[in-house]
Amino acid sequence: MNEIIAEIEKRRENARLGGGQKRIDAQHKRGKLTARERIDLLLDENSFEEFDMYVEHRCTDFGMQDNKISGDGVVTGWGTINGRTTYVFAKDFTVFGGSLSEAHAQKITKIQDMALRNRAPIIGLFDAGGARIQEGVAALGGYGEVFQRNVLSSGVIPQISVIMGPCAGGDVYSPAMTDFIFMVKDTSYMFVTGPDVVKTVTNETVTAEELGGASIHTTKSSIADKGYENDVEAMLQMRRLMDFLPSNNQSGVPVLPTKDASDRVEMSLDSLIPENPNQPYDMHELIKKVVDEGDFFEIQDKFAGNIVTGFARIEGETVGIIANQPMVLAGVLDSDASRKAGRFVRFCDCFNIPLITFVDVPGFLPGTAQEYGGLIKHGAKLLFAYAEATVPKITVITRKAYGGAYDVMSSKHIRGDVNYAWPTAEIAVMGAKGAVEIIHRKDLGDPEKIAQHTKNYEDRFCSPFVAAERGYIDEVIVPHNTRRRISRALSMLKNKKVENPWKKHDNIPL
Ligand code: HXC
Repeated sequence: MNEIIAEIEKRRENARLGGGQKRIDAQHKRGKLTARERIDLLLDENSFEEFDMYVEHRCTDFGMQDNKISGDGVVTGWGTINGRTTYVFAKDFTVFGGSLSEAHAQKITKIQDMALRNRAPIIGLFDAGGARIQEGVAALGGYGEVFQRNVLSSGVIPQISVIMGPCAGGDVYSPAMTDFIFMVKDTSYMFVTGPDVVKTVTNETVTAEELGGASIHTTKSSIADKGYENDVEAMLQMRRLMDFLPSNNQSGVPVLPTKDASDRVEMSLDSLIPENPNQPYDMHELIKKVVDEGDFFEIQDKFAGNIVTGFARIEGETVGIIANQPMVLAGVLDSDASRKAGRFVRFCDCFNIPLITFVDVPGFLPGTAQEYGGLIKHGAKLLFAYAEATVPKITVITRKAYGGAYDVMSSKHIRGDVNYAWPTAEIAVMGAKGAVEIIHRKDLGDPEKIAQHTKNYEDRFCSPFVAAERGYIDEVIVPHNTRRRISRALSMLKNKKVENPWKKHDNIPL
């Protein structure tokens, strides 16, 4: 028996070496960890159970029958994150550059199937050169099998992708269909076709970083939700994120005990809104002062900063926060902000995470750039997402709620459950200046009359009470009680049950 055990250990040791010490050293030299080192950081200590470590490819073309490495370029299995089951696959760049063969794909799909069957999240760590060139169509078929499972799992279990090296060709579309994509700065890049092909086809000269580094995908394309400094930070932040997420769409998120009292008053909020309505203030301050222990996991913090999205907790329970940000473009809704927030709202609704919306929005951004860029359809994405959402929806209007953006931002009319306004709220078709210029155009040459019209408009409409008189606002609350009000509303909505009419699926304006 001892001999057999020794033989198993030898085979395991061999498999764990992947592409060999030289390639492991090269990986480290580039500032990257190996697939197994990453998994060790991601999962609870000693919790990883590896599957299929002896799998080899079956390719016989190009002399590949003499070049086999146990594991075939991907490490797969399951473990726990803070005690909760999580499935994981990590591309091993030391083995054929992490490229995907038929056998490699089968290892991934086995894990995807298990994750879906057992209703637990799956995390993919990417560091790979795309389709295994020697395998041809067998690799393409393998990708297709992975993609199909991504789609079937969407909205059932959280799927997370972390890009930690190259991610090119076929490798990009699986992450693109998962819920979140994270990247490591300077060592990872993602593109469909690399710089050489780009040069041939379009004659553009770009580096890999310029084409698809974290700096591009977190700021310009919005493909990635966040970038991290290095592999260690990325893995530790994934552990933190997973604590905010449920295991599946029916499980709910475990409550995280907190010492932060739900009725904590925050007097400083009473002076958050500046006297001057055109002066910005930082929505992050409000969010951090309202949520448990100021703990906020922001999603897409470097993209469309005019809207803030992320996870937090109230009384230990996960909530999704969406907030207009007056510090960026005065908090206006544009195409990027609408897409960003729309996707976030839909994620929360899929996974039964209540939505808390803080509103300070001067409207939709005017201009040809926005209109030509499809603002109507992009704005509709956010409207659609809020309107179809059946999770508890709590809205707090802190200042401006103008025009169509008032309706969109989780208003009563699209099934906001509890809609509060601060006394500083201004709920109107538009700001006083614009309104007066339209309805009193004939007086435009008379500054005194215009000033009087403006004051009349402000007195009547730049307050929460016109909306409150109609029941569109449930209560005008004092800012310092915002946490208590939200917390109580969430408890009241705990058993909320709303069902949309049966349909195969909706037709959100893509
Ligand atoms: C087989 C590959 C490979 C691949 C890399 N390798 N990519 N083997 N198939 N796709 C191997 C290399 O031969 C090398 O083996 C090792 O991995 C490391 O690669 P290097 O090139 O030395 O590393 P580096 O300089 O860091 O460059 C990494 C890279 C580059 C940028 C990823 O390897 C590269 O451009 N690879 C090809 C990318 C590509 O075109 N993939 C196909 C995309 S088409 P040794 O033995 O020397 O260590 C595609 C279509 C699918 O994916 C569509 C489905 C929908």
